[in-house]
Amino acid sequence: MSHVEEHEGTRRDFLYYATGGAGAVAAGAAVWPLVNQMNPSADVQALSSIRVDISGVEVGTQLTVKWRGKPVFIRRRTQDEIDMGRAVELSDLVDPKAENANIAADATAIDENRTLDEAGEWLVMMGVCTHLGCVPLGDGAGDFGGWFCPCHGSHYDTAGRIRKGPAPRNLDIPVAAFDGDTEIVLG
Ligand code: FES
Repeated sequence: MSHVEEHEGTRRDFLYYATGGAGAVAAGAAVWPLVNQMNPSADVQALSSIRVDISGVEVGTQLTVKWRGKPVFIRRRTQDEIDMGRAVELSDLVDPKAENANIAADATAIDENRTLDEAGEWLVMMGVCTHLGCVPLGDGAGDFGGWFCPCHGSHYDTAGRIRKGPAPRNLDIPVAAFDGDTEIVLG
């Protein structure tokens, strides 16, 4: 693994966190939290930033990883999902501004602003229902082809925006960025 060599002096714990339910999980994908042993707050740092290998994530599948104790969905959207997300008028959204404390500064309810890449393939979101915190089901679940929270019936669209049900806000977008073509850094 090339990135192992790049981070000499760090301890690598292998953590693989698969989503429950029927979600498709990419084979071979893995999460590598990096622990800086020299830092007194190593345990805090380990949680604050992780790298995710996304090289095995096929179009139309998603990976669920655990970050800061919560699930994060990393979905590689199909062109249909992208088109559906971009066709929605903001006036049709429950939460058009997506203002909340956890959202990345530049992420709004606009589909283009919620993905990591300009093409709109890579959608990274907290996998936590904004109603009472259940983990929504993915892979086209719900009435809007995105995610569905079975706890009280919240439907999210292909951009993770709340469309129907009691949840008040779109799924949160964490701070995330590509590192090369095969890794995403969370935090
Ligand atoms: S926790 Fe998801 S709908 Fe209530």
